[in-house]
Amino acid sequence: MSSEIKNLIKIEFPSRPENISFARTCAAAFAAQLDCTLEEIEEVKLVISEAISNSIIHGYDNQPDGVIILEMKLLPEKKIELMIEDYGCGIADVNQAMEPRYSSIVNRMGLGFVFMKSFTEDLQVTSEVDRGTKVRMIKTFLPISKENDL
Ligand SMILES: Nc1ncnc2c1ncn2[C@@H]1O[C@H](COP(=O)(O)OP(=O)(O)OP(=O)(O)O)[C@@H](O)[C@H]1O
Ligand SMILES: [Mg+2]
Repeated sequence: MSSEIKNLIKIEFPSRPENISFARTCAAAFAAQLDCTLEEIEEVKLVISEAISNSIIHGYDNQPDGVIILEMKLLPEKKIELMIEDYGCGIADVNQAMEPRYSSIVNRMGLGFVFMKSFTEDLQVTSEVDRGTKVRMIKTFLPISKENDL
C-alpha cells in the first residue's frame, strides 16, 4: 500500500440487486472514518448506488452471476477514491453515455453519470466493449468548522 493511501478496502460480489444496499452501507461505513456530514455520506451512498446499478443493469443485463469490484481508498486531505469495476458488455461510446439524459434503455432517465459527476470530483470512466467498465471518482470531504460545534 503506497504511503499516500491511508486505508484500502476491496470487495467483490455478484451482480445481484440486493448487493447494492450492502455496497452502500460499506461505503458509508468507510466514509465515516472521516469527520464528515450526513449529507456527504448520503452523497457517497448515492454515487455508489448509481455506479453499481449501472454494472448490474447495463453491464450484466440484469444477470446475477457477473462480478463487481468495489475498491475504496482513503487518501490524505479528506479524500476518498471510489472505484467500481465490472467485466460486462462495456460501453461503445463513453462520451455519449455520459451526456445528461442519454440512456440506452427507453424509460430510464439517463442521470446516473450526472449524479456521479455532480457529487464527486474527477469522474473517470474507462470501458471496452465485451471487456467491461471501470468508474473512478474522488470524493473530497469538507473541513468541519469548529464554530458549528455549539
Ligand atoms: N457499467 C456499464 N456497463 C455498460 N454500459 C453502461 C455502464 N454504465 C453506464 N452504461 C451506459 O451509459 C448510459 C448512461 O448511464 P446513466 O447511469 O447516466 O443512465 P441510465 O443508467 O441509462 O439511467 P439512470 O441511471 O438515470 O437510471 C446507460 O444507459 C448505458 O448505456
Ligand atoms: Mg444509471
